[in-house]
Amino acid sequence: QQGPAFDSNAMTLTRFVLQEQRKFRNATGDLSQLLNCIQTAIKATASAVRKAGIAKLHGIAGDVNVQGEEVKKLDVLSNELFINMLKSSYTTCLMVSEENEKVIEVEVEKQGKYIVCFDPLDGSSNIDCLVSIGSIFAIYRKKSDGPPTVEDALQPGNQLVAAGYALYGSATAIVLGLGSGVNGFTYDPAIGEFILTDPNMRVPEKGKIYSINEGYASDWEAGVFNYIAAKKDPSKGKPYGARYVGSMVADVHRTIKYGGIFIYPATKSAPNGKLRLLYECNPMAYLMIQAGGLASDGKISILDIVPQKIHERSPIFLGSKADVEEALSYLK
Ligand code: AHG
Ligand code: MN
Ligand code: MN
Ligand code: MN
Repeated sequence: QQGPAFDSNAMTLTRFVLQEQRKFRNATGDLSQLLNCIQTAIKATASAVRKAGIAKLHGIAGDVNVQGEEVKKLDVLSNELFINMLKSSYTTCLMVSEENEKVIEVEVEKQGKYIVCFDPLDGSSNIDCLVSIGSIFAIYRKKSDGPPTVEDALQPGNQLVAAGYALYGSATAIVLGLGSGVNGFTYDPAIGEFILTDPNMRVPEKGKIYSINEGYASDWEAGVFNYIAAKKDPSKGKPYGARYVGSMVADVHRTIKYGGIFIYPATKSAPNGKLRLLYECNPMAYLMIQAGGLASDGKISILDIVPQKIHERSPIFLGSKADVEEALSYLK
């Protein structure tokens, strides 16, 4: 029995967000408005990602296209899209972007109560070879009185109101956590909406995949080295498969869907690892934990780290509960 050719009652992301809002009696609708503006930034970024090559071709000579217009690099364009759509949502007062050294303060007449930390384009090393890339966002409520300051953005991940990511992969997906579970949506270009395809996502208790950049193995601390060696050692059980995309969003999405562990550890050259706490580690840790997994810096939960600087980095061990717990048992 085939479903309807055209679903006249599809659960879109927009409907889902409004439905969730109804659970909070005193909701103002601001978070729904903010999420829908983020959705627009993601739709526009997806469109640019899927045409970037052609746009570049039109550019022919360097970054100026045949009409003499500047062909923007994808991560500059996605950053502008996020900033403009967030500002015009009238629900944010402060933003932290990977691409902006300082916090972005929203003009007073457009200020709202939310603070958004975002990675507008994650995995930029994979853009030119057409490997999956993404966008990541983390939403906090301003806690202090008075005008917004950088301190308002230095809240630990356990204060998150919502977090999510977009994955520009074989399909365009959004995964969103609003505090009571994680839900996945897939873009349907026929109607220009994200449709609920993965309700209540749960990460498997244990997986069979480890994900780490083995190129840095000589730089790892002994515990990480011994754990990864154990994952390959037939005398310790069936060896794990190795998967590493190099776009955090793609590696994390696979980990939620299939289980296993993703690690970006500290190395001698990067004592706090590479991934940024505010707009990579925290949102991904929030989602993984909401989906029943774990996320640690090797010592404490990522969400309990109190940030000191907006671009600070953290090592991260994230994924299936049993796999993360096993990895942590190898660290001194
Ligand atoms: P971004 O493109 O936003 O700077 O993030 C890239 C990050 C992350 O996506 C990925 O997990 C990591 O860089 C890969 O780093 P290595 O190439 O060092 O493995
Ligand atoms: Mn990134
Ligand atoms: Mn980025
Ligand atoms: Mn970057």
